[in-house]
Amino acid sequence: MAQGKKRVAVLISGRGSNMEALLRAGQLPGCPYEIVAVISNVPGARGLQTAAEAGIATAVVDHRQFKTREAFEEVLHETLLVFAADLVACAGFMRIMTESFVSRWEGRMLNIHPSLLPLFRGLHTHRRALKAGVKVHGATVHFVTPELDGGPIIIQAAVPVLAGDDEDSLAARVLRVEHRIYPAALWQVAAGNCRLENGRVATDGWPVDETAQLFSPAADILPGNA
Ligand code: GAR
Repeated sequence: MAQGKKRVAVLISGRGSNMEALLRAGQLPGCPYEIVAVISNVPGARGLQTAAEAGIATAVVDHRQFKTREAFEEVLHETLLVFAADLVACAGFMRIMTESFVSRWEGRMLNIHPSLLPLFRGLHTHRRALKAGVKVHGATVHFVTPELDGGPIIIQAAVPVLAGDDEDSLAARVLRVEHRIYPAALWQVAAGNCRLENGRVATDGWPVDETAQLFSPAADILPGNA
């Protein structure tokens, strides 16, 4: 294990394509984090197999095996401790977490959400964006706080909504930028350039200039890919 790298556990519930993007960036030279475990609340989650094939430790904490949310979270917390996780990256992890669990990982847990928060918190973001008729949609990486999809924003990516879009085409366009901003955000948090301070995101030396503040599909700010 490379010394000094932050140990990241990724929480998933399904496909795991964001987890794969985090894994790929984790292998770039100079990356300040390594993925040490992929944990799912869904036993058959496709991403578990992908992670195992990549040689990453996996674990299942099936929420249906617990009577209460708190009991589930207690075992999830213990599992994160077993892997000695420094940071937790929720990547399509479809469980609402209690304030008590979130507070134990405050400033150390990130989430990616498929909308430009604070618009479209919760589920079915692409359907709702199409219904609302917005012309710009996107994705957000934020620190997790007890407020659902309401934590301080680390990075966002915008994509256009095109005339012929349906939910699937819009979701695919957003997913492509998710795969770029999530590794970028995790990289900066792991490097210590970006942290949660007094309920806000504080940064040191990142983004490097104002053109990098708005991530557009035409730009690539993932360190190592410059
Ligand atoms: C992603 O689009 C992610 O933003 C979304 O689920 C998808 C998971 O895909 N997350 C949420 O909706 C969280 N509320 P993936 O498993 O292929 O990364």
